[in-house]
Amino acid sequence: MRVPGDKSISHRAVMLGSLAEGVTRVSGLLEGEDVLSTLGAFRAMGVRAEGPDGGMLVVHGAGMRGLRSPSEPLDMGNSGTAMRLMAGILAGQSFDSVLIGDESLSKRPMKRVAEPLARMGAVIETAEGGRPPLRIRGGQRLRGIDYAMPMASAQVKSSLLLAGLYAEGITSVTEPAPTRDHTERMLRGFGYDVETGAGQVRLRGGGKLRACDIDVPSDISSATFFLVGASIAPGSDLLLQHVGINPTRIGVLNILKLMGGDLELLNAREAGGEPVADIRVRHAVLRGVRIPEDQVPLAIDEFPALFIAAACADGETVLTGAHELRVKESDRIAVMAEGLNCLGVTAQETPDGIVIRGGKFGGGAVDSRGDHRIAMSFAMAALRATGPVTVNDCKNVATSFPGFAELAARAGLGITARD
Ligand code: S3P
Repeated sequence: MRVPGDKSISHRAVMLGSLAEGVTRVSGLLEGEDVLSTLGAFRAMGVRAEGPDGGMLVVHGAGMRGLRSPSEPLDMGNSGTAMRLMAGILAGQSFDSVLIGDESLSKRPMKRVAEPLARMGAVIETAEGGRPPLRIRGGQRLRGIDYAMPMASAQVKSSLLLAGLYAEGITSVTEPAPTRDHTERMLRGFGYDVETGAGQVRLRGGGKLRACDIDVPSDISSATFFLVGASIAPGSDLLLQHVGINPTRIGVLNILKLMGGDLELLNAREAGGEPVADIRVRHAVLRGVRIPEDQVPLAIDEFPALFIAAACADGETVLTGAHELRVKESDRIAVMAEGLNCLGVTAQETPDGIVIRGGKFGGGAVDSRGDHRIAMSFAMAALRATGPVTVNDCKNVATSFPGFAELAARAGLGITARD
């Protein structure tokens, strides 16, 4: 089976395609609501695009200075990536703009981008406590800065690099631990010089982007639900095709292998500047582990599903150093602990992680609190629960994985979706 396109890469393809000169053809684009929010924002700023249709999108680039002032606030929906990366782009424009989001996004921290962008000369006003909306004043002269990120965040890094395209001189970002490098890779694909090394990324502002074709691989974060599902369900043997295996994203493979998972990478190749492979996964008896902290940024979106794997493993799984999970689409430590407890799993929150004791658990009703990845993770838990699992508040599954319930049913889950 093939899961939908990578969300991070899809956002960036729309963004760089819109700012490029020429026509960018994207295949395998994720047609999830988050990416459609990004595309809607560029259309509202005058970018012409055909599609998406069957994962194909054709973007007629407006050039670095070709965006037009939007007549309304730009609605980023549920997407933190869209809001933070757009803030970097909009900080460099000649016009004012406002970024808004849904209830979940409106609670998420934006100071992490507003503050360093202000150091570059941007003028950005946030609501109380550094939350959205973001009011961005155009017509500012940006200057490159050297920024040492206090947290390992690809969104912050990317926001500053995108602003850096519009800045005088060199923008450099140092990360405390490696984070996904799709922005750097794709900028190079669009012909932009980016230097990387020793935990630092550097670029000089004032250049141009040249349109190119992009083949978006399947999202390893979406594949994760099936990697975990097949690992925990006896008798499973699944082949997931064309999955992105960028080294900055494969924490889930490393952690599942550490737990005793039976994973095999086949037919490793490159697509559009990103490493890709087919992944074969078979059922295995998993064991609880202490998750190495260096894997945390490399698996940051995969923890809700990994917690389900931990609930099915022999022994205890301990996660530390994952405070960032508390500021995702929901507080993923609290919401997962609550849901696991509901099913009778012993799971104890800690300030920066969780301790989960694996074993038998029952069915029940859990609330995803509007978090797509939590909803999909608990759907997989049903493969091992002794009774049915009802997951409430699932509409946001469509932000990252349209068609999840259908694909899961095809893979053998007894799943029904109701409005
Ligand atoms: C993303 C970066 C990560 C990740 C998010 C997508 C990106 O966020 O959780 O789903 O596309 O850059 P942080 O940078 O906040 O860790």
